[in-house]
Amino acid sequence: MAHKVEAWGTRVGLILAMAGNAVGLGNFLRFPVQAVQNGGGAFIIPYLICFLLMGIPLLFIEWSTGRYGGKFGNHSTPYILDTMARGRVWKYIGVFGIFTNIAVVSYYVYIESWAFSYVYHSIIGSFKGLTQGEVAAFFNSYVDIMHSTTGIPFEALIFYVLVLGLNTYVLSKGIKGVEKVAKIGMPLLILFGVILAIRGLTLGTSGASSMFPDANAWDGLNFLWTPQYDSLTNPKVWLAAAGQIFFTLSVGMGTIHCYAAYVKSKDDIALNAVSAGFMNEFVEVVLGSMIVIPIAAGYLGLDWVKENAGFGMAFQTMPYLFQQWGSVIAAFAGILWFGLLFFAGITSSLAMGTPWVSFMKDEFNWTNSKGAWSFGFITLLVGLPTVYFYQQGVFDEYDYWAGTVSLVVFALFETIVFSWIFGINKGWKEINYGADIKVPIIYKFIIKYITPVLLLFVFVGALFTPMGNDWIGNINSLFNGDGWALDNASLIKQLTQAGIKEQLAVATDPAVISQLKDKMFFSNLARGILLSLFIFIALMVYYAFLKRRKEGRATL
Ligand code: PHE
Repeated sequence: MAHKVEAWGTRVGLILAMAGNAVGLGNFLRFPVQAVQNGGGAFIIPYLICFLLMGIPLLFIEWSTGRYGGKFGNHSTPYILDTMARGRVWKYIGVFGIFTNIAVVSYYVYIESWAFSYVYHSIIGSFKGLTQGEVAAFFNSYVDIMHSTTGIPFEALIFYVLVLGLNTYVLSKGIKGVEKVAKIGMPLLILFGVILAIRGLTLGTSGASSMFPDANAWDGLNFLWTPQYDSLTNPKVWLAAAGQIFFTLSVGMGTIHCYAAYVKSKDDIALNAVSAGFMNEFVEVVLGSMIVIPIAAGYLGLDWVKENAGFGMAFQTMPYLFQQWGSVIAAFAGILWFGLLFFAGITSSLAMGTPWVSFMKDEFNWTNSKGAWSFGFITLLVGLPTVYFYQQGVFDEYDYWAGTVSLVVFALFETIVFSWIFGINKGWKEINYGADIKVPIIYKFIIKYITPVLLLFVFVGALFTPMGNDWIGNINSLFNGDGWALDNASLIKQLTQAGIKEQLAVATDPAVISQLKDKMFFSNLARGILLSLFIFIALMVYYAFLKRRKEGRATL
């Protein structure tokens, strides 16, 4: 190879980088919301089962696949898959492992930049004396770039470019740069998280606000941690749990493969995979549940939390609640909370940058720096529409196709390649080679049969989500011969934009019609961009193939 072989500096650095990859905004923003919306204690059991039967197996698959690819000088999924399975098509399946990253990072960095900006606003005291409504309005105005009255003009855009630039800069320093950020960011994140969690735990049962005298921080924790068995038969809860496991562990993305490809070929991956996975679960299940939920429940009551659980809680409610502790502590709490989100975010967005940089390095001998700046440029192109048209739904469209559907599709393919094409016997050897732990043999069976079946189940569940997400009712109706009614949230109906079309068909008010047409327009715009991105990367893979063939390095 023309460029020098890169590798992780230390084992601790590798584990922190991998844990940093997994520990992200999903742990603090997505997990609590999913848990609350899916019944608290009813969510936790399916969640833990999905962790053991889907999460851990996929971690083993991806770590070993990555290290295997690295042995042949391949650090991104197109050519990692190419070395594992015969057939020209697999490298194009591997396109997902670059595509998803660029698509997700383009909006992920946007949230990261909110966190960055909110650290700044906490320091300068922007939230001082604001009512709850005003703090929420601050956020709405912030993301409404063209009419924003908060902060400096075009602040959201400026911070987005700044934070993306910062990511690009670190990536230009190569894997060692990523390692350094993880070594600083992860310990700080955990420290900040522990301090805030202690605050969440000690807020107590006294009812901290006069508005909701019965509010009680412990209600929030009890709600999350009292197991309920009644919803175990509800596929909706299972699908939500599986989706959360995917997102939080960063599996089905191509980032783990890429990081693992920089592990030396004799080094352990089994214990490393488990360590990084469990570190993520600690941060998610312990820290992720002890901050927003108890603090919000402590001031506003559990009912408020159940009704308002959503993405906005972190940015629209927390800064207001911090104010209740006096303006000095509020500033500190704001720095800790948004600083934590920022570190969680950046260690993940860096991971999403590496597959593209590595691909260009492997195939076209680009330097880290050229790879990084091209990554920054492409991400900016893909990301600007989410920044500009955040409120028009571009963000959500990206999140659905790239952050949800693609992960499952790719995970399904890679599991099949690993267990059935590469072969589970060879695969099992790869997992155990150099291992510092003995992986229970049952996982050989799980990886071969259980994980692919579960993935198939998740995929089919998403395709055919029934009306009102009411599985039991629809299964009964199916058996009674009354058929299966698809929900507009099902993949099939999403594909045809059935939801918007239905609304358009009955709309009469011209204002509503034009709004719906806008929605349709932005949804198509987002899809067009995503599709173009996918095709662009597939073409690059094709060029790489031609180049390899010319040099006599192509496998087929
Ligand atoms: N796991 C990250 C989170 O919890 C998100 C992520 C997904 C990061 C895929 C990298 C790759 O936020």
